[in-house]
Amino acid sequence: MPNKETATSIRLKKTKGEKIAALTAYDYPTARLVDQAGIDVVLVGDSLGMAIQGEEDTLSVRLADMIYHCRIVRKAVQRALLVADMPFGSFQASPERAVRNAVHLVKRGRAEAVKIEGAGARLAAVRAILAADIPVMGHIGLTPQSVHALGGYRIQGRTLAGIDGLFRDALQLQEAGCFALVLEGIPHPVARLITRSLRIPTIGIGSGPGCDGQILVLHDMLGLNPEHPYKFVRVYADGAGVLGDAIRRYAGDVRAGQFPTLAESFELDPTILADMEHHYGTDHQDQ
Ligand code: KIV
Repeated sequence: MPNKETATSIRLKKTKGEKIAALTAYDYPTARLVDQAGIDVVLVGDSLGMAIQGEEDTLSVRLADMIYHCRIVRKAVQRALLVADMPFGSFQASPERAVRNAVHLVKRGRAEAVKIEGAGARLAAVRAILAADIPVMGHIGLTPQSVHALGGYRIQGRTLAGIDGLFRDALQLQEAGCFALVLEGIPHPVARLITRSLRIPTIGIGSGPGCDGQILVLHDMLGLNPEHPYKFVRVYADGAGVLGDAIRRYAGDVRAGQFPTLAESFELDPTILADMEHHYGTDHQDQ
């Protein structure tokens, strides 16, 4: 496939000075739109817990959910690199369990790479998955799976100790062999400094313009999540307004008897129609 993105081509974009545009997707029609629009990386994120399942956080998302959505998205994505999130609980217990679950995401979900939140205690899992020849995207900063450990969804790297920790994590993930690193919820001067210090590209979310690329949750940037306006999201469409209006107009048309019209209905062969009228009478004729 010409111009098919791979973990390697995404990593090389940093050397070429090309910005990386990434988005999430969870279903076939929107994944097709995302891929056809030329997005470089499609992430089947565990944000599907909120975006699709209506949960309050990502913690309840199961590996089976990730595989299900990844398989669907896979059918639509032809050009972008397809990355699947490893959900909470799928990689913490042991590196062996992490490899087994990453293999499931590749084998059954047809992902081309996986994303893991955290560094430190997660490095063994990251290294083991890489040793199984599965590319890994790292993810540090405000990692939503650690919401309870972090004491809430708090911007990270606001103290010197915090900045030191982020630097150490970023370098360790790069040395482990990650092909890219998501920086989430980090003050922009810190994200810029980390980006300049790494050979691998950083993909920011809520981390300012100094990253090598950006990612957003599709439903947020399409305006399908208006009750949760985030400072770091630019809303590119009034998705909720446009779709809500279409649904209201449809309901109005049905109730007013204006949908469907005969033009939106199927004809009957005239000879069969004549037979039917002869047999049943004409009471049932269209008005
Ligand atoms: O789950 C997700 O969608 C993510 C991105 C927003 C980085 O982790």
